[in-house]
Amino acid sequence: KPLRYYASDQVHSCHRKAMEALGLGNRALRRVPTDAGLRIDIAALKAAIAEDRKAGFRPACIIGTAGTVNTGAIDDLQALATVAAEEDLWFHVDGCIGALIAIAPENRSLVAGIEQAHSIALD
Ligand SMILES: Cc1ncc(COP(=O)(O)O)c(C=O)c1O
Repeated sequence: KPLRYYASDQVHSCHRKAMEALGLGNRALRRVPTDAGLRIDIAALKAAIAEDRKAGFRPACIIGTAGTVNTGAIDDLQALATVAAEEDLWFHVDGCIGALIAIAPENRSLVAGIEQAHSIALD
């Protein structure tokens, strides 16, 4: 079954390159719509995963973004960790912009859930 990866439509372009470098192709990375705050729409993510399973794909990984390039939006990482656990998927966080906020006592709650990631990228 062809693998599927999920991220918001704000995801950094390096993930496209990664999909292509892996030989999976850009279309294996499904861009999920975002809400008014430009955070990944959790209901739309769940629907996409269900749709893909039905269509014979094999969902493999959710990529959450902690700080998008365009607006600095941070996905609901706790919700993404829950979906990943429920669906038995790898949970990766692109924290290139925002991961280090986890060490800021007053604002670490913005990236709550990042500790549940199976992998994290940061600059
Ligand atoms: C949010 C985000 N993710 C990932 C990357 C990494 O991109 P690359 O490895 O292509 O430099 C960057 C670089 O600016 C970024 O801002």
